Amino acid sequence: MKAFRSISAEGFLIFVHMHNQPIGVFDSGYGGLTVLRELHASLPGYDFIYLGDNARAPYGPKDFETVYEYSLQAVKWLFDKGCPLVILACNTASAKALRTIQQEDLPQIGEEKRVLGVIRPTAEIIGNYSHSGHVGILGTQGTINSDSYRIETNKFFPEVKLTQQVCKEWVDLVEKNKTGTEEAEQIVQADLQTLISKDNEIDTILLGCTHYPLLLPVIRKFIDKDIKVVTQGKIVAESLKHYLQRHPDMDKRITKERILEFYSTGNVGDFEAHASLFFGKEITAKFTIL
Ligand code: DGL
Repeated sequence: MKAFRSISAEGFLIFVHMHNQPIGVFDSGYGGLTVLRELHASLPGYDFIYLGDNARAPYGPKDFETVYEYSLQAVKWLFDKGCPLVILACNTASAKALRTIQQEDLPQIGEEKRVLGVIRPTAEIIGNYSHSGHVGILGTQGTINSDSYRIETNKFFPEVKLTQQVCKEWVDLVEKNKTGTEEAEQIVQADLQTLISKDNEIDTILLGCTHYPLLLPVIRKFIDKDIKVVTQGKIVAESLKHYLQRHPDMDKRITKERILEFYSTGNVGDFEAHASLFFGKEITAKFTIL
């Protein structure tokens, strides 16, 4: 909490306490930390608060209603913590909950709160990475079955041929810290082979799940070295920077004390032990219930 001096209506000197108004970053678990890492690098002075719903991850196999309900709880929790702006750093939540939250919940919640996702900024740019015009998208069941990437990418790159692949077990491999195992190699190899067998002209693969960058060394083992693998962190960070430039009122509301806070609905010891793999630095976290 920050205090600053002001003059009251009666002319007295008073101290006004201003609560932090960080940018909220939400994911079903650890994955959003790969996005937060880039947000923090690109907006280093800004305050952020991270919420991982590790206790209820993965969201990928859950139905629309459940992902929406959990995501809305998380967004409200972050609003209660003072966030004027929340980033759903989760493709599954962006695919299944973002539109309803923006269109139906925000008008009721009011107070000029905003929620942004990760699919739109990625779709706006993904076609630029490909020379062949053939792009592969890897994601959870929720993201791929929603067809959000095809719908959004078509708006910006109607000529690009998208081929999508559900990677059912990848989030679990990451959440359970099994990325270096033989099991991970077998699963990743099988899913990549299926993707490439559907379209062998793919020259760009998007990791359309914020957990997947942790599997990058394994992914690289099983694909041609000429294929580009695109992760979302920097794309989302660049897009947020532009958003704040276009919305100076929102930018002003976000406090800039370099405060980073981390919360998990799961075991905090586990979260602290694994989070540095995703975030790149040691962190301390607090437990919360949604
Ligand atoms: N990081 C989430 C995403 O980007 C993972 C979803 C899950 O929990 O299955 O989709």
